[in-house]
Amino acid sequence: MDDKEFAGYLGNIFQNGLVMVSVGLGYELGFFKILTAATEPFSAEELASKLNFKERYTREWLSCMVAAKIIHQNKETRLYTVPEEHKPALRMSTGFAPIIFNFGVRAERLKQCFQKDGPFGFDFDTEWFGWFNNYREGMAENNVTSEILPLWEKQSGLIEKLEKGIRVLDVGCGTGNFIKILAKKFPNSSFTGLDYCAGAIDMANKYKAEMGLQNLTLVQGDAHNLPKEFNDTFDMVFMYDTLHDLPRPHQALQEVYNVLKNDGFLSLIEVRARSDPVDNAGDMVVAMYYAASMFICLANSMTAEPHIGYGACWGVEEIQKAVEESKFKIVATIPSGPKVFFVCTK
Ligand SMILES: C[S@@+](CC[C@H](N)C(=O)[O-])C[C@H]1O[C@@H](n2cnc3c(N)ncnc32)[C@H](O)[C@@H]1O
Repeated sequence: MDDKEFAGYLGNIFQNGLVMVSVGLGYELGFFKILTAATEPFSAEELASKLNFKERYTREWLSCMVAAKIIHQNKETRLYTVPEEHKPALRMSTGFAPIIFNFGVRAERLKQCFQKDGPFGFDFDTEWFGWFNNYREGMAENNVTSEILPLWEKQSGLIEKLEKGIRVLDVGCGTGNFIKILAKKFPNSSFTGLDYCAGAIDMANKYKAEMGLQNLTLVQGDAHNLPKEFNDTFDMVFMYDTLHDLPRPHQALQEVYNVLKNDGFLSLIEVRARSDPVDNAGDMVVAMYYAASMFICLANSMTAEPHIGYGACWGVEEIQKAVEESKFKIVATIPSGPKVFFVCTK
């Protein structure tokens, strides 16, 4: 890249970042719910009046979306339309964008952590779960049906076992967005969700009550020290985006090993990065995860003592090493979009 090309490349990063702020704002203001439900072209006045907003601000936001080719505007009629083919992604992914506001809230704390004499880190808080739960709500159902289950289907007999009835533990279940969907889909199996954060477990319990899920139990606990009564009782452990957040992933893997029955297995979903940062050069997905990791994952993994502090992008090679050191056998490593799925047996 010469100097001009690089200037353009950098400018692109800034442009995308600012458009993402607008997408996040639109999500929080409720624009995308209306836009993705719209079946007819609409005017800025119509959209503004539906939400009791000022037309001028609404038009500014719409113009940004038009310039970014997220929606279309007709030059003659001035009316806006949302292409049908844009709607699934807008429904599923726009909830991610407000992460940027959460980073704003966390930025001062993060800057303190950089200081030699500053705090080690900070953990998941209620504010973070507010954003995260919204995001997961939008994407979890689709993620389970179009990504997780098709990958599990490739593992011999797993879906049949879930249909017949097995015991599943979700370690670091957060607000329960995945486990509640799995519990509903497989009513003969029994599911336990465990998370460190009491607020997240409260939220998960609300879902459980709303959905009337009798086969779901939620427990507040620490992945580094799973309840002793769990030992040798689970057929499957599921960990989605959690292992790298832990101060001591090796210890947690050992605990998971202990709670699994001899023929049980671990389904581990992590970020698809390479362990040597040099090997991620040019991979913007990994660059994005490094950014998120600083504000969220690394900060959480540094809170407890002792800690290793891997961060979200500890990478496939390090994950494989940690899993195998914990005596698991990796039977499949399946890259899927920005994630990588590991299927492991004892
Ligand atoms: C990125 S979130 C993922 C949540 C959920 N698996 C999902 O994908 O929706 C990581 C989760 O790990 C939980 N966590 C962090 N430290 C933990 C620990 N020591 N024991 C159990 N859970 C922990 C956090 O509270 C948070 O809910």
